[in-house]
Amino acid sequence: MNSAVHKLNIVLLGAPGSGKGTQADRLCEKLGLTHVATGDLFRENLRNETELGKLAKSYMDKGILVPDEVTIAMVKDRLMRPDIEGGVVFDGFPRNQTQAEALSAMLAEMGQQVNAVVYIRVADDEIVERLSGRLICRRCQASYHKKFNPPKVEGVCDVCGGELYQRADDNPETVRTRLETYKEQTAPLVEYYQKAGLLVEVAGEGTLDEVTERLLAAVDGKVAG
Ligand code: AP5
Ligand code: MG
Repeated sequence: MNSAVHKLNIVLLGAPGSGKGTQADRLCEKLGLTHVATGDLFRENLRNETELGKLAKSYMDKGILVPDEVTIAMVKDRLMRPDIEGGVVFDGFPRNQTQAEALSAMLAEMGQQVNAVVYIRVADDEIVERLSGRLICRRCQASYHKKFNPPKVEGVCDVCGGELYQRADDNPETVRTRLETYKEQTAPLVEYYQKAGLLVEVAGEGTLDEVTERLLAAVDGKVAG
């Protein structure tokens, strides 16, 4: 990666379970960026029993999108923190055109822009298998899989030692709705960002390392090109 590239802002697009969270952590580590995941921010609010958390829960439990104005305000707030200075990997945001336009406007106000949008493509049946075996750290939200990416010690996060749990929205019925929501509302962003000349598609199947290598090459190609 060209070290002269500053303030790199990358968006990860992909269905539930496509590996956005897993790969965002890896990209951030390799490129020195900050991971901003709207799902994680909502779950943090839920854990802290804030009003925002209570509101978000009613949508998340159903597998539908939290209203745009709430989500956009939360991201705006997050982007005020100094740790985003070096650039961001956005995971789970934007999720429709209104959010995409809001993100461009927020970054423009900061003299920045979206530099690359990576669409991680994974087949539906693989997604169901991934989500049914997923484990999340209660403390740092790192993502594991019982079979594909198990923690070193059962039930304990490798990164921070936190307790691992299964997300409430990873049950088969909510997963189905999340997939429908994704196809109706978020998948159109693939074409939207393609038209903007920002999109690069990456195959999301294979080992975690293989997918990371593809993502790094994709970002490098997009930013250099
Ligand atoms: P969010 O938390 O964003 O969930 P999601 O989009 O459904 O995506 P996931 O987190 O389920 O999947 P992921 O792509 O991060 O996959 P992961 O890396 O964990 O959103 C939850 C809810 O919040 C939404 O439904 C909505 O209500 C609300 N919300 C969030 N953002 C919003 C927004 N912008 N607007 C409105 N509402 C919003 O991987 C999945 C599993 O697969 C893991 O177990 C992992 O270990 C495993 N895995 C990863 N890579 C591989 C691989 N290569 N091979 C095998 N297994 C793998
Ligand atoms: Mg995630």
